Amino acid sequence: MSYRTVQKIFPTVPTIEGAGVYLKRGFGFHEVPQFDPFLLFDDFSNTEAAHYRAGFPVHPHRGMETVTYIKKGEVRHRDSLGSNGSIGAGDVQWMTAGSGIVHEEMPVVHDEGIQGFQLWVNLPQTHKMMSPRYQDIRAHEIPVVTETGKEVRVIAGVYGNAQGPVQDLMVSPTYFDVTLDAGASFSIPTDPEENFFVYVYEGSITCGDDHLTTVSGGEIALLTSGSECVVTGGVKGANFLLIGGKPLKEPIVWHGPIVMNTQDEIKTALAELQNGTFIKSGG
Ligand code: CO
Repeated sequence: MSYRTVQKIFPTVPTIEGAGVYLKRGFGFHEVPQFDPFLLFDDFSNTEAAHYRAGFPVHPHRGMETVTYIKKGEVRHRDSLGSNGSIGAGDVQWMTAGSGIVHEEMPVVHDEGIQGFQLWVNLPQTHKMMSPRYQDIRAHEIPVVTETGKEVRVIAGVYGNAQGPVQDLMVSPTYFDVTLDAGASFSIPTDPEENFFVYVYEGSITCGDDHLTTVSGGEIALLTSGSECVVTGGVKGANFLLIGGKPLKEPIVWHGPIVMNTQDEIKTALAELQNGTFIKSGG
């Protein structure tokens, strides 16, 4: 058995995105391909309405997936498939852009502000142009496993007998939201071939048998390879996301919200946006 330990810590960086949303970026364009198959991670939690209300007006995506997980508050969305809805506290939206989607994502101003995360997952070359789809998961559909000193929300992947509701995905992702008491440990066996990272959003943790490297709130830790992922809560406990998946090991050519394998495919996408043929199916 080999433990996954901290390979590198990435402090989140204040970034302004969309029409003026102040968020914290964990990793993105500049970190490719360290997090393969993941492309980007943002924490868009905010209590200042002026710093999130402008949202993310109409924009396209192709060749990738976006995963939006809301802890507090609400985000309304509308897209070229004709869907129109809102996701609230505890809900997850797993959007597969595939051949193309045009959508808007607008946070709703509430007293409690907004707390949420967006992850971008790459699609393999064979599926970049698949039909777009949504998996909208409501909070009550997400299994919560409660054990001594810990609580695990299984969004994707398997924890004990619990199977996450997000399924049939290309990179076999694991996506857990874990709460740990101080000194309590959480562990899962992991395929050493897969890449895993942890985002601590409250408290602090240590990983594997390394009890000296502390990962604190607002930091991402990219983990080493290993067959066992063990995370231990720091002095005040911790809330963190544990995310992993199979690396694609393919060339990445990234242009804003369009992520393909070649420069030619980006040129095609941009030309199609210009001439109105970007959307392939579903309206
Ligand atoms: Co988007």
